[in-house]
Amino acid sequence: MNDEQEKDINNPIFFALINMPYDVPFVPTPEVVVRRMLQLANVRSGEVVYDLGCGDGRIVIMAAREFGARAACIEIRKDLYEQTLRRVKELGLEDRVKVIYGNFFEEDLSEADVVTMYLLTSVNERIRPKLERELRPGVRVVSHDFEVPGWKPLVVEDLYEEWRSHKIYLYKIPGLEIPIPVEDLERRIKAINLDEEHMKVLELINGNRSIEEISNKTQLTMRAIREIISDLMKQGLVKEIKVIK
Ligand SMILES: C[S@@+](CC[C@H](N)C(=O)[O-])C[C@H]1O[C@@H](n2cnc3c(N)ncnc32)[C@H](O)[C@@H]1O
Repeated sequence: MNDEQEKDINNPIFFALINMPYDVPFVPTPEVVVRRMLQLANVRSGEVVYDLGCGDGRIVIMAAREFGARAACIEIRKDLYEQTLRRVKELGLEDRVKVIYGNFFEEDLSEADVVTMYLLTSVNERIRPKLERELRPGVRVVSHDFEVPGWKPLVVEDLYEEWRSHKIYLYKIPGLEIPIPVEDLERRIKAINLDEEHMKVLELINGNRSIEEISNKTQLTMRAIREIISDLMKQGLVKEIKVIK
């Protein structure tokens, strides 16, 4: 047994694992903890939240209903997948919440702005290389009770709820995405009519400023900035996005 597995044994979730064929058993995150996780991750309207292991779908449902997010979750147990899907349909959230029947080690996570997890330290350790590979710089990862070994959290919060205390770990994927304007921007821009929002973003693109900085300056989400930059690329005003991981 390694150090990470030993840490897991001290948590109640571990006892439900005995005789379970899956990486992690189903133990739901209490709603107050879910809400706090989504608040700490600063989920904003239009952002995409991925929950690894849906359980009963409570995280993706709250992300969509209370935070205006789009959300997806991946569940390996057919009964829980079906339960979540049923609930999502009952609430009329099918166009905002995608429920995936599968293994989160095998699904593409690159669309996420925020990833939530209630797994085990040992599972977090195994999924870490995939998160580092697939998630964009600035994506927030929030984990209930179990840390991601080798990552430095931005925030660790203790939250007391009914009968026990919970820990929430907040991480951010490091790195920068820097949009590079075309060389003859001055000349090209004269021929193009841009709306106010596109103009505001274009004015902030200088070859040094990251998408995260532009997002902070404009109060638009990084996702919205990327969409605007993609339009600007199509119009021949931005050359590329340089990614520094
Ligand atoms: C501790 S529960 C957390 C459920 C929910 N995220 C929450 O916080 O309320 C972990 C969930 O992950 C699912 N799970 C375990 N291993 C998985 C895997 N490899 N791929 C997808 N789901 C998995 C389990 O069936 C269970 O529903």
